[in-house]
Amino acid sequence: MKIAFIGHGYVGLVTAAVFADLGNTVWVVGRTKEKIDKLKKGIATFYEPGLSELVKRNVDAGRLIFTLDYHEAVVPSDIIFIAVGTPPKASGSADLSSVFSAAESVAKELVGYKVVVTKSTVPPGTNKKVSEILEKNKPAGASFAIASCPEFLREGSAISDTMHPDRIIIGTTSERAQELLLELHKTIDGKAVLCNIETAELIKYASNSLLSTKISFANAIAMLSEKVGADAKKVLEGVGLDRRLGRSFLYAGVGYGGSCFPKDVKALIAFADEKGYDFKLLKDVDGINKEVCEHFVNKIVSHFHGDISGKTITVLGLAFKPNTDDMREAPSLLVISKLLSLGAKITVFDPIAMENAKLLLSDTVSFASDAYTAAVGADAVCVVTEWNEFRQLDLVKLAKGMKEMVLFDGRNIYDPSDAKKLGFAYYGVGRM
Ligand SMILES: NC(=O)c1ccc[n+]([C@@H]2O[C@H](COP(=O)([O-])OP(=O)(O)OC[C@H]3O[C@@H](n4cnc5c(N)ncnc54)[C@H](O)[C@@H]3O)[C@@H](O)[C@H]2O)c1
Repeated sequence: MKIAFIGHGYVGLVTAAVFADLGNTVWVVGRTKEKIDKLKKGIATFYEPGLSELVKRNVDAGRLIFTLDYHEAVVPSDIIFIAVGTPPKASGSADLSSVFSAAESVAKELVGYKVVVTKSTVPPGTNKKVSEILEKNKPAGASFAIASCPEFLREGSAISDTMHPDRIIIGTTSERAQELLLELHKTIDGKAVLCNIETAELIKYASNSLLSTKISFANAIAMLSEKVGADAKKVLEGVGLDRRLGRSFLYAGVGYGGSCFPKDVKALIAFADEKGYDFKLLKDVDGINKEVCEHFVNKIVSHFHGDISGKTITVLGLAFKPNTDDMREAPSLLVISKLLSLGAKITVFDPIAMENAKLLLSDTVSFASDAYTAAVGADAVCVVTEWNEFRQLDLVKLAKGMKEMVLFDGRNIYDPSDAKKLGFAYYGVGRM
């Protein structure tokens, strides 16, 4: 099949490369010449495990074509996916301007019959507006159907998630579009859920909001655990072993971040408000997420009797989660900015996200080349992102360079008794 993607971010590039690898011819439209030139050489523009190889292989095979030109991509394609960003506005609602401008550019190139699919996360009603834009700007004689196929891939495991999704949501009222989309996805396992467009649009927000709710719930239980001497990690394990609930996303930490959960929770709150429904539950989910980060910093401050000015604090892990270089809404940024505002000196290390972090943190922190170097001279070490390489750090070696043996384990990756036996003052989340 011939398909086009508008946007080559985490969703556009990964999904395009996977469809190309399955034998389709895929055009990807971007708007930055430097990035498109890089991609044309088969070089991925961000870090995602396995992506560089996948992009290179399919570029070399001539199945993955990058262009700045909508005409080149849209004209030969049967299906056009819009996979551009939908960042939050100051109000919390989703900024849909990129989706609408992409739709307008696609419309002008429509010829014959095309299916235009929104993959970006957009609130219910957006695809109706996309349809109006297509109708208004398309050349005479061209026809189209619209569909909503929201994406569920997770950064860090995006390729495998795209190949083996739990479900494929196809929201459309057009039988022809549905058939084409089922045909395109036939080699991808995952249950197809066929529904109308508004349902598909809402499924995506409901999913991310429920996952965020589980995280905030786990964090609320952790804050309560600290008050009563319970071990939140065990509490959540005990809860999650109930098959009706499940273990996933029931982990206490320093809160959720990234380019999806914070923005999608806020966007659903704003959308519900607009529609006259006060989504109090999600307002609390969002509030707890802010609270846990402050709570984490407060623990550091109280260890040092209320004054951390001049203290050197090492932050291990900067990306919003392991296996990505994505720093969008990373909890580390909030932790670091609070620590800096209280006068601490910060040294940081992340296995992959250092380049992106440098763009955001520039000269406000010191960047170290590995975890052990980062800890040299530290009054305390905080683990904020649970990269695998931090799980089995040699804590004795880490301690050797530290000024004081204080460990704030923001992801509960160490055994408190092991750390204490070594002489660390250990602080987990919901466990001491
Ligand atoms: N990142 C994730 O893990 C993830 C997962 C599922 C869904 N989503 C959703 O998918 C959408 C895209 O997310 P992302 O993380 O890939 O975003 P991103 O910011 O990584 O990429 C967006 C891309 O769109 C391009 N773009 C914007 N306007 C354009 C235009 N008019 N023409 C051509 N290109 C244009 C940008 O240059 C960029 O390449 C968002 O709605 C997001 O919520 C993201």
